[in-house]
Amino acid sequence: MRNTFYLISIICLTAQAVGSYFYHPLIWSFGLTVPVVLLGIYEVLQTKRTLMRNYPIVGRARYWMEILRPKIYQYFVESDTDGTPISRIIRNVVYQRAKKQLASTPFGTQLDIYEPGYEWVNHSMNPLKLDAIDPNELRVSVGGSDCIKPYSLSIFNISAMSYGALSAQAIEALNWGAKEGNFAHNTGEGSASRFHLKRGGDLIWQIGTGYFGCRNEDGTFSAAKFAEKSNHPNIKMIEIKISQGAKPGHGGILPSQKNTPIIAEARGVEAWRRVESPSAHSAFSGNKELLEFIKKLRELSGGKPIGFKICMGSPSEFDDLCKTMVDTGIKPDFIAIDGGEGGTGAAPLEFSNSIGMSLKDGLVFASDYLNAYDLKKDIKIIASGKIMTGFDIIRNICLGADACYTARGMMLALGCIQALECNSNHCPTGVATQNPSLASGINVKEKHTRVFNYHHYTLEAVAEMLAAMGVGSTTQLGRTNLWRRISTNEISSYEKLFPEKNVGSSLLTSA
Ligand SMILES: Cc1cc2nc3c(=O)[nH]c(=O)nc-3n(C[C@H](O)[C@H](O)[C@H](O)COP(=O)(O)O)c2cc1C
Ligand code: SF4
Repeated sequence: MRNTFYLISIICLTAQAVGSYFYHPLIWSFGLTVPVVLLGIYEVLQTKRTLMRNYPIVGRARYWMEILRPKIYQYFVESDTDGTPISRIIRNVVYQRAKKQLASTPFGTQLDIYEPGYEWVNHSMNPLKLDAIDPNELRVSVGGSDCIKPYSLSIFNISAMSYGALSAQAIEALNWGAKEGNFAHNTGEGSASRFHLKRGGDLIWQIGTGYFGCRNEDGTFSAAKFAEKSNHPNIKMIEIKISQGAKPGHGGILPSQKNTPIIAEARGVEAWRRVESPSAHSAFSGNKELLEFIKKLRELSGGKPIGFKICMGSPSEFDDLCKTMVDTGIKPDFIAIDGGEGGTGAAPLEFSNSIGMSLKDGLVFASDYLNAYDLKKDIKIIASGKIMTGFDIIRNICLGADACYTARGMMLALGCIQALECNSNHCPTGVATQNPSLASGINVKEKHTRVFNYHHYTLEAVAEMLAAMGVGSTTQLGRTNLWRRISTNEISSYEKLFPEKNVGSSLLTSA
């Protein structure tokens, strides 16, 4: 019925066009009124939508408004400082850096610096020369005492996003940008696809509960496949995914229609079959087994840095894990802390909104526990969760991170317009879709330069901020450098809000 309606509408619209051409009002009005009448009849007869049945035409207008509302809001209503999840001001700075456009703002800050929650770092009366720090030198060595192949990691890297969540073109452009900018690209749990490997950028291979790229047919972990793949020279570090901020404790499903032969090839599964990533790992259970698994992966990979990614849940669980590290002497080389504010391709609303600790709190917990157990010297922390600007990087390093990841920052650099359709396969910019005609809109050569530029100019901003603070290296940053407005007439350093823990400090063990 719907198709018949569309057909008649097309005939009527053609009649309208013909009517207009010959200036014949009768043909013209026929073309205008008949489709509306037909639409009304169709809506009265359909049984799916009550509102349209009771209020034909008007009900549909409301439906269209609902669809258009976010677009109208984004383009006509939203101010520079609103816009969720990423405000316009931040989106613009990413676009400008990616396109190498004017990087300054006129007339002063648009932020209300008297509003509680406003944060800043203090400058020094003795700043360094603005170009005193080389942005390319902003790196940190990852690899504890058991690691044979430590990796020099940029302080700003591409966070986990799989080929499958992102298009092949997006993955290739990200990896090419990473190659040119000498920073790392996390594969996401979908494993290292041919598009991750094509341009030779450094990879962090993420292993989720589906063990993609290193799984047996029954979905369990395959040591032999892991050993073979992890020895690829582009793979510099391995990250076990325990949880992610947008959906901690929730597995994932790769629907059969998205499981194309190339995606299946990367993941080591059968094409066009529905594949599940359970919520928990089958290769280990509990802290001791997790640490033994880390040790095993380190050996199988020939001594590459092995870490895990979590969104902080119960602090007492993390406390137990630290104790087990001390008892067994087995430590990860890095821990990625993801905040509850982190992004995802798709997640249930309750998980995105109401499970998992925010980055700031999770990071402070992790850093405090590792310090208290004297583990921090061997374990690097990578932070993620809305880290997009130079200040975001500095803020998280002040709170305990050694390096940072960004996922959505890189998507914006690729041209994402925050249309929020990543879970529909209709991404208009070709970034988060497997629809070949949409994805082919991405010009990989052009976009890889944008990824490179965004990374480069953001690190340049970090270097200049450090110089203004009179600090020669990110290792000198701490909570004393970061300040926050508590109320209109009260400000505090983060050292006062979250005092840093020293080795042996007593911490909550029953939180
Ligand atoms: C499209 C998309 C896909 C993602 N896929 C993964 C994934 O495969 N594994 C993972 O651990 N996190 C995944 N994430 C989460 C990001 O890696 C990151 O932890 C989170 O988005 C926080 O960073 P952001 O605020 O910079 O986006 C994904 C995020 C996005 C936006
Ligand atoms: S433009 Fe694409 S990637 Fe960006 S939010 Fe929309 S659907 Fe997601």
